[in-house]
Amino acid sequence: MLNAGNPIGVMDSGIGGLTVVRELQRILPGEDIIYFGDSANCPYGNKTSDQIFELSSHMLQFLGDNGVKCTAIACNTISTMADRLRPCFDYKIVSIVEEAAKYVLREHLKSVGLIATEFTVASGKYAELIHEGDPECKVVGKGSPLLAALVDRGDFNQHDINTEIRTQVDNILAREKVENLILGCTHYPIVEENFHECYPEMHLINPALEQANAVKAYLTEQNALNPQKKGKFVICTSGDPQVYVNVGKRLGLFEASELKVVHI
Ligand code: DGL
Repeated sequence: MLNAGNPIGVMDSGIGGLTVVRELQRILPGEDIIYFGDSANCPYGNKTSDQIFELSSHMLQFLGDNGVKCTAIACNTISTMADRLRPCFDYKIVSIVEEAAKYVLREHLKSVGLIATEFTVASGKYAELIHEGDPECKVVGKGSPLLAALVDRGDFNQHDINTEIRTQVDNILAREKVENLILGCTHYPIVEENFHECYPEMHLINPALEQANAVKAYLTEQNALNPQKKGKFVICTSGDPQVYVNVGKRLGLFEASELKVVHI
């Protein structure tokens, strides 16, 4: 039986998962949230699966020790190995990749572009999950080696960000004229306006909302929604907490009641 008063965990390799916190705070404002962003080790997208597994396990352990009632793996890169992580923890883990794939299937999209980290694209997880439901759907992916790290630094250099977006999305468009593009890395919705500016006609899919809805559905089914009016928001990071404050403001998040530097 879950304790409704316990927090929801949200984890990411860095600040990207704050885009999931934004959606959670919109639809579940009463929930306490504890966030872990491993900025000291970001980007994860250029690491090996064993490195990512080990670092992610430490974060999930930390969140478990803090009594989370479930955790949203906001990071797409980490979510590609949700099946490997789940057996190690005794609380519900919601993968952002699984929820994004469900969206593509629910909307009956016939082709979709995917921009994500190189690891996420190479894992083939998006294509695998989408093809389980619709083998005909074209999934055209391109990894960006730079974009997550550019955003995680928090300096938002418009020129560098737009150049990287154009390089990778043009590569997708050269292979398939997609009209839908999954922002398959949680860092990307932070610079969603840059995507709009570069590709005004493109339908951008931000999986954060899908994941937040999945968390809500789970807590509803478990009868574990927190009835309080406004939840507490605690940020833990292995990196520079000031970047989290700045990005939190940019995204319009509730102000964090605690900001902790934690080394895992
Ligand atoms: N935020 C992570 C994701 O959604 C990627 C950033 C990184 O490479 O660490 O995939």
